[in-house]
Amino acid sequence: MNDQLFIKSAFSQKVERPPVWMMRQAGRFMKEYRAIRENYSFLEMMKNPEIATDVTMLPVDLLGIDAAIMFCDILVTAEALGGQLSFVKGKGPVFANPVRSKSDVEKMVIPETYEEFGYVFEMIKNVKERLNGKTPLIGFAGSPFTVMSYLVEGQSSKDLKLTKLMINTEPETAKLLLSKLATVTANYLNAQIEAGVDALQIFDSWANTLSWEDYQEFSHFYIAEIISKLNRKDIPIISFCKGSSVFHPIMAEAKPDVISVDWNADLLRVKQSLPNEIAVQGNLDPFVLYGSREIIRKKVMRILEKMRNENGFIFNLGHGIMPDIPFDNVKYAIELIQEFRN
Ligand code: CP3
Repeated sequence: MNDQLFIKSAFSQKVERPPVWMMRQAGRFMKEYRAIRENYSFLEMMKNPEIATDVTMLPVDLLGIDAAIMFCDILVTAEALGGQLSFVKGKGPVFANPVRSKSDVEKMVIPETYEEFGYVFEMIKNVKERLNGKTPLIGFAGSPFTVMSYLVEGQSSKDLKLTKLMINTEPETAKLLLSKLATVTANYLNAQIEAGVDALQIFDSWANTLSWEDYQEFSHFYIAEIISKLNRKDIPIISFCKGSSVFHPIMAEAKPDVISVDWNADLLRVKQSLPNEIAVQGNLDPFVLYGSREIIRKKVMRILEKMRNENGFIFNLGHGIMPDIPFDNVKYAIELIQEFRN
C-alpha cells in the first residue's frame, strides 16, 4: 500500500500530522495559472494534456501540497452525453442545448470511455511521471445530481429551479438522466483508476438544495451505485457534498473511505458520529483565507487542535478556494498545517 500521508489518513491510519490539499487548488488564485489562461480558453487548457499537466503541478511545485488534483472539470460527463458546453466570461458554464424533455434524455448515448476522455487519461499518465511517487494524484467526477443540474438549467443557477421542477413534475425523466450520468461516471472513474490516479473524489456541489428524502432518492442512490461499481483496490474514495453537515449519515451508507465536510459542521462531532473506518476531510471556511495572518492562524489552529490525534483526518476547505484569495495567505495556512504535529 502507498505509504504517503494523504493515503494513510484517507484509510484512517495513524499519522504524525494531518495531510492538506485544497479544493480548486489548481486555478486562478495563482498568477502562474492566470498567465497561461491569457493565451487559452479554460476548455482549451483542460483538453490539452501538456497544459493540464502543468496546471495540475502548480500547487505541488509552488505550495508543496500533500495531494495533487487533476486539472479538469466535472462537466465533462455532461459533455460526454451530448451537452454542448462552453464557458462564458462572467457567467460560467453554459450548455447551448439544455435538457427540456424526456426525448432529449432518451437521445443521449453512452460514449466509448477511452475515445471520449482520452485527453484526461493522457494527462493522468503525464502527471504521474512528474509526481514520481512523491505526491498522490486525486482524480474526480461530478455527482450525477450536480452534473444533471447544469444540463437542465443550461447555466449556473442559485436555486436550481428547473432541476427541482423536473424532480417534482417528471421524476422518471430525471431518473433516466441520472442513471445515464451514473453509468458514464462509473466508466470514467474506473478508467481514471486504470490510468493511474491514487484517489478519487466525487463532487456533489448542489446537494444542499435537496430535502433529506430527495437527497436519498435523486443523489445518494446514484453515488452509491457509482461507488459500488468502482474497482477500488487500494484507491480511497472521497465523497464531497455541500450539505454534508446534514447528509453525512446518508453519505456513509455509500461506503466511501472519506467524507468531505462543508464548513457548517463541528468536524469532530461528524467524525465521531461516523463508522470508525470513514475518515473526514475539511472543513475550513475558505473566507478565512482573506483574513489577516492572526485570523488565519487562529482558525486553522482551532481545527487542528480539535482534530488532534484523530486518525482519518485530511485538512481541506469546506468548499473551493475563491479566485481572488491572496496566494500568500494560502501558502501560510499550508505551512501552519504542515508544521503541526499530533
Ligand atoms: O480542484 C481543482 O483545482 C481541480 C480542478 C477543478 C475545476 N473545477 C477547475 C475549474 C475541479 C475539481 C472542478 C470542479 C467543479 N467544476 C465543480 C465542483 C466543485 C465546486 O467548486 O463546487 C463545479 C460545480 C464545476 C463547474 C464549474 N467549472 C463552474 C461553475 C465554473 C465557473 C465558475 C468558476 O469557478 O469559474 C467552472 C470553471 C472552472 N473549473 C475553472 C477552473 C480552474 C475556472 C476557469 C477559468 O479559468 O475561467
